[in-house]
Amino acid sequence: MKAAETLIEYGNPIDPAAMVTPPDATKLELEPGHPGLGDQGYIRRRQELFALCRKHRLEGLGPPIIQYNAEETRIWREVSPKLDELHIKHASQLYLQAKRELAITRDEIPQLRHLSDRLRRETDMHLVPAEGALPYRTFYEYIGDRGFPVTQFIRHGSHPEFTPEPDMIHDCLGHVPPLMNRDYAELLTLIGKAVATTTHGEQVLALKRFSWFSIEFGLIAEGDAIKVFGAGILSSTGEIPYSLQSAEVKREPFVTDVVIATDYDPSRMQDHLFIAPSLPFLRRELEALVRRFGIAVA
Ligand SMILES: [Fe+2]
Repeated sequence: MKAAETLIEYGNPIDPAAMVTPPDATKLELEPGHPGLGDQGYIRRRQELFALCRKHRLEGLGPPIIQYNAEETRIWREVSPKLDELHIKHASQLYLQAKRELAITRDEIPQLRHLSDRLRRETDMHLVPAEGALPYRTFYEYIGDRGFPVTQFIRHGSHPEFTPEPDMIHDCLGHVPPLMNRDYAELLTLIGKAVATTTHGEQVLALKRFSWFSIEFGLIAEGDAIKVFGAGILSSTGEIPYSLQSAEVKREPFVTDVVIATDYDPSRMQDHLFIAPSLPFLRRELEALVRRFGIAVA
């Protein structure tokens, strides 16, 4: 890849420098069309959690203990049992085993501080409180340091099955369980170190796509079955059946050179997915890619 070539992301040309030096949002912003716009109580709660989590992130304090209110608990109790039933049928074994070990229940919203302590003992990973979606490179700098950024707010109650941004349900039920697995933790950490080390925008974009089509929206083979592996699918009652059963979805084997050249649109249901033969395969492919890019990770 040449550094000078134009990069395309989400269908638009982007500045390679923005991949390397991302902006930092210091205030809560809900995007146009967000279901919480106009709900002053929700916005106040989001602002409060934004400030608290940002402070804890920047000062390295670890996840704060949150007193979740009745509405937040109601949403959790509505969404998590539906997801749990879909997980039992369709999630990868790696995910199901980890979710059981973490004892994430349908009744109470877990405290990330406790999950973080458990992960640290198991795979030397920990959770970093995030005020919202962090810029990709910032996000992966934490991961390179074995910290996974996780939001602590809950989506708006008018649409419990939908969130336009990663929230606690996405993070906690999608991303956190697999962090209990050593291969998964090493795969992630290597992506993080590589992204944090390279100064080439096109390499950051390639690594971002590698992780999008595996960590975020990957499928994985288990014997003759295809199971859900990616957190973006695992945290959505719509995406799980869509990813496995819809005729609109193109599913093809995970070939790294195809994956890193494939653009996607994060704002809609994902209709192009890749099936990895195994987790060790993904790890080997990533290691080979990082070597090929000449990124010297410590
Ligand atoms: Fe995610």
